[in-house]
Amino acid sequence: MFPSKVSSAISIRNARKVYEGGVEALRGVSLEIRPGQVTALLGRSGCGKTTMLNLCGAMDFVTSGEVEIEGKLTNTLDDAALTALRRNRIGFIFQFFQLLPALTAQENVEMPLLLAGAKNAAATALERLTWVGIPEKAKSLPFQLSGGQMQRVAIARAMAHNPAILVADEPTGNLDTASGDVVLQLIRRAADEFGAAVVMATHSLEAAAIADVKVRMRDGHIESVE
Ligand SMILES: Nc1ncnc2c1ncn2[C@@H]1O[C@H](COP(=O)(O)OP(=O)(O)OP(=O)(O)O)[C@@H](O)[C@H]1O
Ligand SMILES: [Mg+2]
Repeated sequence: MFPSKVSSAISIRNARKVYEGGVEALRGVSLEIRPGQVTALLGRSGCGKTTMLNLCGAMDFVTSGEVEIEGKLTNTLDDAALTALRRNRIGFIFQFFQLLPALTAQENVEMPLLLAGAKNAAATALERLTWVGIPEKAKSLPFQLSGGQMQRVAIARAMAHNPAILVADEPTGNLDTASGDVVLQLIRRAADEFGAAVVMATHSLEAAAIADVKVRMRDGHIESVE
């Protein structure tokens, strides 16, 4: 494990988020998310987990307070810088996988590499599919895969460009226990082998168990960090 003095990948400082319509989803939260660690966001539905992940992925912005990703305040970046940050430094995993249905597994993994203008996209995609343990599914379309296999493709895609930050929203929420365990081991390895700062929202005790840091949230506040 990395010592806590390792500098943060993401610093969230006194973040408030008020959505249009007036819902105050975050009411002044502060959190450091560190490389090589899995940070789990826990708490009941509506407590603000996905809102936090959207801030961590530079997909959304605070109403007040600050979010700093690798030393950059996200609300000061222009669109080009935000796109570059998301494409080059961040990987995303979702509950419902969000693979492109008309592309093969390998093409899904290649897509972010092509968007980022990477060389050897095909070879890197196959390497990542091997890393997640399903190279033989490279030519399969998503509908030919099980849920667990689809999530493995999604993890391969998220890790394709070796991101500094991996954002995961309920990554096992749609999987049986056995497939969920495989996915959790891969998420753990993303932190251990790639040194990614992983931030994961989850309701699952099994998912919380792989975390280095467990953040309990309630009604837009952080209740405890352990
Ligand atoms: N785009 C939005 N516009 C308005 N309100 C929103 C929006 N997104 C979330 N909210 C509200 O903000 C609060 C926090 O929502 P959030 O999605 O962060 O919760 P969550 O902890 O991820 O819940 P769940 O476990 O159900 O996924 C909720 O009251 C929700 O209804
Ligand atoms: Mg959510």
